[in-house]
Amino acid sequence: MIIAIDGPSGAGKSTVAKLLSKKLDFEYIDTGAMYRAFAYKFYRNNIDIGEENVNKVLLETDIDYNKSNVYLDGENVEDCIRNEQISILASEISKIQAVREKLVNIQRKIANSKNIVIDGRDVTTVVFPNAEFKFYITASARTRAERRYNELISKGENVSVEEILEDINKRDHNDMTRKNSPLKIADDAIVMDTSDLSIEEVTEELVNTIRGEK
Ligand code: C5P
Repeated sequence: MIIAIDGPSGAGKSTVAKLLSKKLDFEYIDTGAMYRAFAYKFYRNNIDIGEENVNKVLLETDIDYNKSNVYLDGENVEDCIRNEQISILASEISKIQAVREKLVNIQRKIANSKNIVIDGRDVTTVVFPNAEFKFYITASARTRAERRYNELISKGENVSVEEILEDINKRDHNDMTRKNSPLKIADDAIVMDTSDLSIEEVTEELVNTIRGEK
């Protein structure tokens, strides 16, 4: 069974998806982590994200995802990819079609014949349009900025809510207006606004929906 969770950045998708996968004892795949890992290669090696460079580096890069960890060329980079620089680079790099094709293929391969919860911006529309369950998790931009702010502050990063809000608006715009696989609500997705709900409440609702309809 495939449970696909879509939605804008900072809506709590990943946290909900992770928790849901634990409750159902399914494997979890974070597709954003894969775009981030690829972007991290450019950041770490100081390579410019021009389409020509990206296409070249793509051929020499191996991305994998296993047990809630993302691997870049065999190295676990889970701890290096959750900061604002990588967020912005990942958003830029994910516009390039060749990158999407490669990562979508990897995602489909990993999911092959497994029960999975997968989250990311195109998982209900492009990666698994025939998933058994499709959810679109969203929240107001301000709520999302405040959540991201609390997360980053707890990791010791020095940021302001206004800065994050600006990044979120920029990323939303990038993700919704890009030519390749823009963020959008699949026709048959169940939409949930999490602005006034806790992670546990959202997860509970998803579990009820899944169990009720199974
Ligand atoms: O979800 P997360 O914030 O980790 O994703 C980082 C960036 O990767 C997003 O802003 C988006 O541009 C890109 N992404 C994507 N398609 C996905 C997952 C992430 O384009 N399925």
